[in-house]
Order: sequence, then structure tokens, then C-alpha cells
Amino acid sequence: MKEEKLRELLEALSVTEKIGQLIQVPGNMLNAEGQELGVRDELGIGEELLRNVGSTLNVVGAAQVRRVQEEYLKRSRTKIPLLFMADIIYGFRTVYPIPLALGCSFEPGLLRRLCEATAKESAAAGAHVTFSPMGDLVRDARWGRCLESTGEEPHMNAEYVKAMVEGFQKGLSEEGKGKGIASCVKHFAAYGAAEGGRDYNTVDMSERRLRQDYLPSYKAGVEAGCEMVMTSFNTVDGIPSTGNRWLMQDVLRNEWGFDGVVITDYAAIAELIAHGVAKDQKEAARLAMEAGVDIDMCTGCYANSLEQLIREGMISEEQLDEAVWRVLRLKNRLGLFEDPFRGADEALERELFLKDEFRALAREAAVKSSVLLENKEGLLPLTVKEGENRKKIALIGPYADRKDALGMWAIHGDQKAVVTIREAFEEMPGLDFSWTEGCETLLPEDYADLPSLIERGERTCWDEKKRAEEWDRAMTLSEEADVVILALGEDTIQGGEGGSRTRLTIPGDQRKLLSEVRKRASEVAVVLFAGRPLVLDEVKELADAVLLVWYPGTEGGAAIRDMLFGKSEPQGHLSMSFPRSVGQLPLYYNAFSTGRPYDGKTPNRFFSRYTDCPNTPLYPYGYGLSYHSAEYGPVQLDGSTLKRGGSITARADVTNTGYRDGVETVQLYIQDVTGSVVRPVKELKGVVKLELKAGETKQAEFTITEEMLRFYGKDMRYRAEPGLFRVGIFPDSSGVPEAEFTLE
Ligand code: NOJ
Repeated sequence: MKEEKLRELLEALSVTEKIGQLIQVPGNMLNAEGQELGVRDELGIGEELLRNVGSTLNVVGAAQVRRVQEEYLKRSRTKIPLLFMADIIYGFRTVYPIPLALGCSFEPGLLRRLCEATAKESAAAGAHVTFSPMGDLVRDARWGRCLESTGEEPHMNAEYVKAMVEGFQKGLSEEGKGKGIASCVKHFAAYGAAEGGRDYNTVDMSERRLRQDYLPSYKAGVEAGCEMVMTSFNTVDGIPSTGNRWLMQDVLRNEWGFDGVVITDYAAIAELIAHGVAKDQKEAARLAMEAGVDIDMCTGCYANSLEQLIREGMISEEQLDEAVWRVLRLKNRLGLFEDPFRGADEALERELFLKDEFRALAREAAVKSSVLLENKEGLLPLTVKEGENRKKIALIGPYADRKDALGMWAIHGDQKAVVTIREAFEEMPGLDFSWTEGCETLLPEDYADLPSLIERGERTCWDEKKRAEEWDRAMTLSEEADVVILALGEDTIQGGEGGSRTRLTIPGDQRKLLSEVRKRASEVAVVLFAGRPLVLDEVKELADAVLLVWYPGTEGGAAIRDMLFGKSEPQGHLSMSFPRSVGQLPLYYNAFSTGRPYDGKTPNRFFSRYTDCPNTPLYPYGYGLSYHSAEYGPVQLDGSTLKRGGSITARADVTNTGYRDGVETVQLYIQDVTGSVVRPVKELKGVVKLELKAGETKQAEFTITEEMLRFYGKDMRYRAEPGLFRVGIFPDSSGVPEAEFTLE
């Protein structure tokens, strides 16, 4: 529709119809098979408004979307189509590894490709908008939503968010084709910094840190053209985001020029009351409107108060019109006025869902995001050759055969299609193995609500007999085997939204299983499933090899088999630091220099250190082993002075010293030695992935420019300050940059 026509449409709407556009309701209020009024009553939304609500969430599937849209349009006077939004976080029917895993790929292009593939499946299923990517930077593994983040690194997060937005929205602007889906960057802002890692908790930090570390990823999403932004649940400097005018207007719209739709997170306007910044729904609605929030997700605040606020002159009709305009414009961009069923197509669903090409991509992504944490004596890859004197293999552990090892947000995924490790092993010619689970993932002490889940029938648990049988079988198999592959991990319900933890060890009887298996088997390789960094000191000590696969998606089992047996090499490098102890959290590589930096050796307590634990992580950010090995030569700089507008090239030779070809993830770190404010000990500024044949040497090359050195100085201006910088080219973040140059 032409803009003029759209304007005319807006002008022809009644105030109630306009307000409707700003309201999002859960799908069950719009159920085409008969309106379920329960939720409607709860939200207090009247019949007329309900006929005019602008959007719904998590109603997907071509048939369902078409039905709901058809019914909706029948009852609507304005005939403005309904917008269908959904949480499509890391894949739709085909599920990819969780974002924290994808962050380990150091390959934004991979994320772009899989978001594009996801958009194809999702558009066929009738989705118009995805609530993704999540740009929240994470530093505290206690927070369950680490799994939805691409990690702790501001520069990488920005690259990933950009790539994801581009992937989802590819083809979106091609008129009427139903290609791509609109992307909603969330949770603006700094939701990942919840104090103590407890979900929905306070976020409070300096504006400098906010701008320097937390905002760049959202900004990258805006610059990549995301159509929507979601507010976060948390406060920022004492003001909940959803009522935070500074964030939404001054930063997002005025500074960054965002002119798309701002939506709240679920019920966040009403939460302004619980936060204690609004006394009732009406005040909450006013604060959110004033902040520039367009859509109220699933509360009655806008529905019940906006009309009155306008009548009383607290909110102007122009403000209302602006918000409605943004929603209408998005619908128009999606081509909904021409085709309200945009892309929703059952035949296309059949063609696209779990297509071979997408499955192959899922397998590639799982390999590129799995991190080899340990490989003592080169246990992996295992070799299996028919006719040779083979090793006897036992596959043991609760994740040996789990179809649901997908993480909490794979809500549209097809669990039946998931390849488990056991299934993948069975498909492998010449592989004999025995298997058993051994134990369950969780015990009640690991998850407070477990007993009530069991009581409600939402979860089953083994009886004593089964428990004893499984355990005994695991012990017998370990005794008989040469190599035990032990598939362990965090339970999926321990992560995701509301999944905060204070103990980060592998739950249940699994550590006991590991130590008992260790006593019996000669070699033990742990395949580790997780949605966050865990405390792995015991695992590191007991296992010969540890392959961290996170929640690896639909093709997880196949990818794991390929990696274990050397058909492919695990390529991931940690997107978050792994602590030695929960007490170290928050933990991140790019911490500020302190006045008392500790060398890790001196027996003197008056340093910035713990007296019972090193400062360093167990596994640093950027770390990951491979089946090849590599050596890094010294950094060579092609100059000692960087002029503004100019550049310096940093180079280092990287040699594959192993017997296999491989890919090295070469990382550039820079330290700004002195600044007007304290600077991090080092910052990642670039990555290249080098393919190296066995024995081959290649040069990693990075161009350093003044822009890469900018930060918010004492006067809050964003610029690079002259002075000394140090450069390192390393395989992970533990190195100390040494090569020096000066910025003029
Ligand atoms: C709450 C979550 O915080 C957010 O990430 C999600 O998109 C919405 N619910 C909608 O389901």
C-alpha cells in the first residue's frame, strides 16, 4: 500500500481502533475454534478492542495462522490484518545450536545463514516477526538466559546481532513475496546484567559501562535495520526499561535513529507497578507511552487506560498516532495489506520443514560451535576401522539418547526429528557399542520445583528398581569397555528464562557416575550438554577428553558422532569464560585493570585476588582445542605509530604443527595502556579463521585503525585517546599483549 493510503487509513480509525493496534494478546484469546475468554477477562479487554487488537504471539503453523487471520478479518471493521509474532530463537522446525554455542563459532556468516534458513521455515508457518536476536551481553553464568546470548564479548555480540538481523530479514523488503521475517532485537537494555545472575533482578551500572559494553549489540541490530526492539524487564539506573524515556527516546530513537516498533517484554508495563514506579495500570500506561513504547505485550494497561489518558490530555492523540503509524507501517512493509496470509502455506511447510539443506546446516553449526575442552593424550578422535583390533565402546549417560536436548527456547522444534547420539552411533557402519543411561539428570536438590513438576505429571522420575538397574548396568559396561563415552549435562529446565542457579556443577548423580565410571574404564570421554558455563574442575580432572556440545540442535547426535570419530573437527571457542568457582562470578576476560593487579604467584594477600581460588577462569574466553595443534609466532607490526585516518597491520605466523588439517580461530587482542578512564586489560578487536593443512604455516593479518580504539573517555566522548597500545595475536584470551604502537 502506498504511504498516502496508509495515512488515510490511520486517519479513518477511531481511537479504540487505534489503541487496538498497540495491543498484543496471547494466541488463545484469538483461537479460531471459539474465543477463549478467560485470558481476555483477566486482562480486562473488551469485545470491541479484542476485535481490533493489532498482534498476537506464538500462534504459528500455516493452517492455524490462516484460520485465525480469516476469523479475525471477518470480525474486523477496519480490515487491518493481524500481525503474528513468535519466539523463533534458534531455528523453527529445524533446531540449530543455542546462541551461546553459536557464539563459539566466531563466524557471524554462519548465524546469518541459519537465520535466513529459519526465516524460510517460519514464514511458511505464517510467522511475521521473530523476537530475536537477543543482544544481551552476559558475564554471569548463574543467569539461565546465558543460553540465548552469543556471549560476553561486545564486539562479537554486535557482529552476531547484525548478522542475525540480516539473515532473518533477507528479502523482507521485496514486495509481496512473503520472504524473510521481521526481526525484533531484545531485551533493550542490559537485561543480561541482572545482579547475582537472578532473572528479572536489578541492573545498575555506570552509563560508561552501559554504552561501552552493553549497548553496542542492540545498536548493531538497529544499524542492520531491525524492524522492532523489545524493552527489557530490568531497571537501568533505577528506571525500568519499559518506562525509561532516556533509553527509548534519547538513545534508541534520537541518537540511533530507530524508527521501527518498540514492544514491551511480556507484561512489562504492568510490572512498572510491581517495580514501584507506577501506582496503577493507568500510570504505568502513561509512563510507557511517554517512553515511546508502541505495543503492550499481554497486559490490559494500554487497553484499559489509553483512552482515558487521551481524554484527560495526559497523552496526546498525536502520540497515539505516531505509535499506531509505526505498527501500520510494519504491517505494510510485510505486505499484509496485499496478502494478510503472507507466506503461510501448508504445501511450503511440507517442502521446507527439516529440509536436507537445513539439517546439513544444523550439523555444520553444531560442529562449528562445539568446544573441545580437554583431550589428554589425544584420546579423540577415536578410530574405528573394520577388521582392525577395535576398541570396545560404551555409551553411557542421561544424554546418550535424549530427543529433548534442545534447550528451553526450541518451542517450535520437532523433537521427533532430533538425532540422538545413540541413533547416530547405530547408523555408523562398523561401530559396535553398548549403551545405557546410568542415571537421571536431576535430583530434587538441584531444582526446587522438581517435586511439584513430578506431582503435576509434567516430569517423570525413575523408581528405585530402575535406578539400581541402570547404575549396575553402567558399572558393568564401564568395566567391559576400553573407552566410555559419557554423555552428561545440565538439565534443560535448569536454564532459560527463570532458570537461575547458584551451584553450577553438573547436577544429579552425574558426577558420581563420572567418578565411578572413571574407576572402571581405561579411557573416558565426556560429551557435555549445557546452556551456560559450568564449574568443571572435577570433570577436567577425571575425564580424558571433554567435548562441550551445549544444546546442539536437531543434528546434534550426528555432529557429535562425526566429531568423536574424526570425520569432523570440533571448531568452537568459548563465547563465555568458564569459572573455577561460582564465587568468581561475574567473570569476563575484558575486566578493568585494578590498582593491585595480581600476578597469580606472590604470597601476599594485599592484591586484588581471592585467598582460596585463582583469579583466572578454568577455561578462558576464546579457548578451544582441536584435533590439530598450532603454534603462534610473534606479532609483527608494520609501524610503531598510528596516525588518525591511517592504519597499522599486525601479523603473526600460525603453523599447524599437528598431523591433521584444521581450522585455527586466530584472535586479535589490544590493550590500551593508559586512558583518561581505566581501560580493560585487553579487548578483542578481530578474528580470522585460518584453514591450515597439516604442517602448513599461514600469516594471520589484521588491520588496526583508530576507530577500533575508541571508547567513552572522561568527558563521555567516544574517541580514541593518543598514547601507547599493546597488541597480541592469540588462540584465546589468556595471552598478554606485548607488541607496541603509539596512537598520535
Ligand atoms: C518473555 C521473554 O523475556 C522474551 O524473551 C520473549 O520474547 C517474550 N516473553 C515473548 O514470549
